[in-house]
Amino acid sequence: MIENNIKDVENLLNEARVEIEKIKNLKDLEEWRIKFLGRKSLLNELFSKIPNFEISDRKILGTKLNIAKKILNELYEKTKEKIEKIEKKYNLSFPGKIVKIGNLHPITKVIDEIVQIFYKLGFGVVEGPEIETDYYNFTALNTPEEHPARDIWDTFYLKKEEGILLRTHTSPVQIRVMEKYSPPLKIISPGKCFRRDAFDSSHSPVFHQVEGLMVDRNIKFTHLKGVLSYFIKEFFKKEVKILFLPSYFPFTEPSAEMSISCVICDGKGCSTCGYTGFLEILGCGMVHPNVFRIVGYDPDVFTGFAFGMGVERLAMLKYGIDDIRYFYLNDMKFLEQF
Ligand code: PHE
Repeated sequence: MIENNIKDVENLLNEARVEIEKIKNLKDLEEWRIKFLGRKSLLNELFSKIPNFEISDRKILGTKLNIAKKILNELYEKTKEKIEKIEKKYNLSFPGKIVKIGNLHPITKVIDEIVQIFYKLGFGVVEGPEIETDYYNFTALNTPEEHPARDIWDTFYLKKEEGILLRTHTSPVQIRVMEKYSPPLKIISPGKCFRRDAFDSSHSPVFHQVEGLMVDRNIKFTHLKGVLSYFIKEFFKKEVKILFLPSYFPFTEPSAEMSISCVICDGKGCSTCGYTGFLEILGCGMVHPNVFRIVGYDPDVFTGFAFGMGVERLAMLKYGIDDIRYFYLNDMKFLEQF
């Protein structure tokens, strides 16, 4: 009788060893534990039978059962540790590490879009320095010292005596390009500009412009209109009306300001367009003969047009943003939308 029981214990151990080998996760291991070590396990049943045996047999069976229990417990602990180690390393059900993918700043994106549109028309892209000299920012643009028009641009001077300043517009790049290359040329130049303006919903002391310049024989105002109309249609991806009004810049003659029908209210009149139905978006004109003379182009042979547009303004209209300051706050909630 006792021999049978001892055989049972050995069979039980063998079975437990074979089964635990196959176990790969904690759930199956728990089932194994209940089966071999739980309250209703064969082992427990055998323990409860001990009192039915002769005293001498009780000892033998008891020892055997205790050893078996110890072996099973050890098997359980070892396997548990092994599985936990693996699960910790490769638990595919753990949430993954969220890698935040950055995106371009809306201003950078809008500049890229503008560049792409002009690129299709064959315009090249050039950049100029943000720290400029008085000469390039004003004098060479037909705005000599004491010229009243200098007041249009409230300037940050770095070294006033030496005429070192932060450029107030991207127009100095026109001069740098024309000094270096001879016509014909077609370029745009995006970049930062600086003016002594206080921050408000539509002003910022740092902002971006895209300058455009095209010079060749026989360039007329109609070319300027054609190029800008194409640009506006591509940029806003809808039909907008274009309005040119006479204006003044020392470096263009004639000069104009271009407005478009308000893209917010479709020209009906709203607070963005000051109930006029139109929005002014850029300054432009035909390059002044004096500017050509300064860079050594013959104004009797060459003509050209130039324009300068505010990137923030275009971005605000395109995306319906009502305050320019959003662009500079580094607010992730704002930036992540683009
Ligand atoms: N530079 C002018 C400004 O910032 C815009 C402009 C550019 C006007 C080119 C005419 C031609 O106000």
